Amino acid sequence: MDSLDVGGIVALEHLNINTNDKELSADFFFMVMGLTRDPYDRVGSGTMWVNCGRQQIHVPLSPENVQVVRGTVYLAVPSIEAFRERLFKYQEMMNGTRFAIISDKDASVELYGPHGNHFHVTQNLSTISPAHSRLEIVPFCFGSLGIYHIKFLIPPRTAAKFSRFYEHFFQAPTVVTECGKECKVLVGAYQWLSFVETEDQLQEYDGHHLAIYVSDFSGCFQRLSKFGLNWKNPRFQDKCATLEQAVQSRQIRTLHLVDPEDGERFYELEHEIRPIAHPSYRRALANRTGDFI
Ligand SMILES: [Fe+2]
Repeated sequence: MDSLDVGGIVALEHLNINTNDKELSADFFFMVMGLTRDPYDRVGSGTMWVNCGRQQIHVPLSPENVQVVRGTVYLAVPSIEAFRERLFKYQEMMNGTRFAIISDKDASVELYGPHGNHFHVTQNLSTISPAHSRLEIVPFCFGSLGIYHIKFLIPPRTAAKFSRFYEHFFQAPTVVTECGKECKVLVGAYQWLSFVETEDQLQEYDGHHLAIYVSDFSGCFQRLSKFGLNWKNPRFQDKCATLEQAVQSRQIRTLHLVDPEDGERFYELEHEIRPIAHPSYRRALANRTGDFI
């Protein structure tokens, strides 16, 4: 883990969380959070894409299926002071929702969005304990905007299974913490996923998903299909029953996380897996920046 190597997952691009109230979500993401609606794609009255630096949150309108991540989205903003001012100025728009400020101290703010999604917003990434030594050498992202980490809560005694899953299927470097209750997965040069055990009852999985880019798309397909993990989500057009279909769709979807040692399906979290040769990879995303309020 002390090398400069990047594992098989090269980027975390978007998180998909459905809303049942597009106006409320727009007020939250654009007014309160200060993020930017993608002006080029999904610009109509249905799905909206929320640009967060080089990442996005996809917010489809789905009256029957509001989605809440079982964990925390970590977002870096250019100015935490500007972020605080927006909170102060616009939080009344969130009255009557699940919106709440949990903590507000130093360089970070923790809050719940109007549907209960949990966000940790920070300005200075240098205050964050690195997942491992690889994460100490990322000065280029300090002070910039973006989703750099998503934490998921998981059942007790499963952290090691997450490590085996990501190492086997994605060839991503992972670390299981000394206490054995947390698995961290390296994503590209400066992002990571973490899976943290909890004794609390987890909410049922509601279909939220994340999109990642991998360097070894066909190898990934082969390893996933060996365990029957390539999955057709009926919500979407893309197919991946065969490698030809996956190449044509330029993505693979999976739903179940499986322990490669014994084939046990131990967690649900949809992954949208794309090759670097996908047209959206590192697409320039419009972002409002600076201290606007
Ligand atoms: Fe997606």
